Amino acid sequence: MPAHPQPAQAARRRRIWIGFLLLLVAVGVRAWVRFRPKPPIPSVAATALDPGFWKLGEAGGHEAAVELERLLGLPGLDPEDRADLLIARAMASTHDTEFARPFDKSAEVPLRRTASLLLGTTLAAETVARPADTAAWQKALANDGDRRHGRRLFLSPQIGCARCHLAEGRGRSAGPDLSQIGKVQDRGQIIESILEPSKTVAVEHRGQEIETTDGDSFVGMQVRREGGEVIWLGADGRRMSMPEADVARITDLGSSLMPEGMGELLGVEEFRDLVAYLAGLGRED
Ligand code: HEC
Repeated sequence: MPAHPQPAQAARRRRIWIGFLLLLVAVGVRAWVRFRPKPPIPSVAATALDPGFWKLGEAGGHEAAVELERLLGLPGLDPEDRADLLIARAMASTHDTEFARPFDKSAEVPLRRTASLLLGTTLAAETVARPADTAAWQKALANDGDRRHGRRLFLSPQIGCARCHLAEGRGRSAGPDLSQIGKVQDRGQIIESILEPSKTVAVEHRGQEIETTDGDSFVGMQVRREGGEVIWLGADGRRMSMPEADVARITDLGSSLMPEGMGELLGVEEFRDLVAYLAGLGRED
C-alpha cells in the first residue's frame, strides 16, 4: 500500500488544520480584548470637571441634588470647581444649605466664600464700611474682582439674578438677556442698573399691574391681548395668561420689575465680583 494519504483524506486534514488555526486566532483575539493593558483611569483632578453639572443644577430635583453631592465628595477636585459644584447643588434644591457647612472653615478661599454665601453669613461677618450711595459704590468698585465668584453669585438662589436674567446660556429671561452686557454697559452703568433698577427702563421691561374682576392682582411685563386672552410675563420669568373677560384693568407701574435693594444682599467684595463678572460678559479680555 502506498504511504501517502488519499486526496479526500488530505482535504479533510487541511480543513481540520484551518479550523484549528481559526479557533486559535479567535481565542487569541478574545484574550487580547480581555487582558490587553488598559490605560490607567485618569484621576478627577487630571481631567476638567464636565461643565454638564450646571445642567443638573438647573434641572433641579432630588436626584440631581444627590448626584451633585456625590460629585462634591470626589477627591482631588480643583477648589474652584468644587465651589461651582456647591452652587449647582444649591440651585438643584434650595430649601437646605447644610451641605455647605463642611466647607465653611475650609482653607481654600473659593470654598469658604461660597459656603458663607450659601449659609448666609457673609454680611454679618463683614467689617469694611459700605459705600453710602451709587456714586460711592461706582468709585469703590471701579476695578478688580473675581469673575468666577461673580458667576457663582449670579447663579446662586441666594442672590437670585438668574431667576430673571440669562447669561452664558443659564438662567431665565424675565428681564433682559445679560449675555452681552459687558459690551453695552461699563462698570458704572452696571452698578447703577443693580442699585437703581427703575431709573432707566425700556418699555418692554416696564412693570404692569393686571387686576381681575374678582379683585385679584398680578404684576408682569410685556402684557398683550391675544385670541381673547391676556398674556404676560410674570416677575419669575414664567408666561401667564387669563381670559380677557376676567381682566378688569391693566395699569402701567412706570417702574422696573427688578427688585430694589438687590445690592443690599451683597457684601462689598461680592458686589465687586458680580460687577467684574457682568462687565466681562460678551468681551474677550
Ligand atoms: C425679579 C426679576 C429680576 C431680578 C431678581 C433681577 N433683575 Fe435685573 N432686571 C430685571 C428687569 C425686568 C430689568 C429691566 C428693567 C430695568 O432696567 O430695570 C432688569 C435690568 C437689569 C440690568 C440692566 C440691563 C439692561 O440691558 O439695561 C442689569 C445689569 C441687571 N438687571 C442686573 C441684575 C443683577 C446683577 C441681578 C442680581 C443681583 C438682577 N438683575 C436681578 C429683572 C430682575
